[in-house]
Amino acid sequence: MWNDDYFEFLVKCVWKIDRPVKILDYGCGYGFLAQMLIPLISKGSSYKGIDISEELINDARERFKNTKDIVSFEVADLNDYIPTADYDIAICQSLLRHLSTPEVIIEKMIASVKPGGLVICIEPSRRLENAGLYIDSELFNPFEKDDFLKERWQSELEAGGRDFQIGMKIPVYMEKIGLKNIGVRLNDYIDYVCQEDEKRRFIKDYGTDSKYVKADSMLAARCHVISYGTKS
Ligand SMILES: C[S@@+](CC[C@H](N)C(=O)[O-])C[C@H]1O[C@@H](n2cnc3c(N)ncnc32)[C@H](O)[C@@H]1O
Repeated sequence: MWNDDYFEFLVKCVWKIDRPVKILDYGCGYGFLAQMLIPLISKGSSYKGIDISEELINDARERFKNTKDIVSFEVADLNDYIPTADYDIAICQSLLRHLSTPEVIIEKMIASVKPGGLVICIEPSRRLENAGLYIDSELFNPFEKDDFLKERWQSELEAGGRDFQIGMKIPVYMEKIGLKNIGVRLNDYIDYVCQEDEKRRFIKDYGTDSKYVKADSMLAARCHVISYGTKS
């Protein structure tokens, strides 16, 4: 979901992470962000990931068994997690959309960092994602899923489930909770496929109709919103 050069640009030019840092990854899964971050940060840095899934944390520990001195993981439910201000950076990716009270988790992320520390949240906006889909087929109608998604997203939201706009709401939560110097970016990655096996993967990933398998190419803008701010 990332162009490596854009992620490196964020780390070095936007977040300016140029000294050893302690990072805490909320809802780390198998350590996807650790894989992206570790090669880019200074020697002397450390990373810890927390996730509710024991299976994913076991997978993460296996993947990072050779860097145990700087990378560690913990199984915990973030709803019960009690933060301490030990870290320079608290980050999460594709987590808040799964939680019913994202503001509470952002508060915990803020409580995890020292004064001047950085809080970073990377979350999708389903509406942008849907608008960013293009399939090179005469059958393609860019509006075909709108009514279905509108109904589904609305009912999920009303039932307290996933929020289809979460990415766009994070900066607003951050501001209200008191983070400073808030910045917002959009991931520049576009999934562009032309090969047969990739087209099948695309149809599965984006839930597009299998009638499109004969299309020449398919594009999806991932549209993850990257919000960040500092603790005063
Ligand atoms: C879509 S995955 C994203 C994983 C990872 N951040 C990444 O970018 O690959 C969402 C993750 O949030 C974790 N998660 C969901 N609810 C959680 C909770 N209450 N406490 C801790 N982790 C949670 C899930 O187990 C899952 O690994």
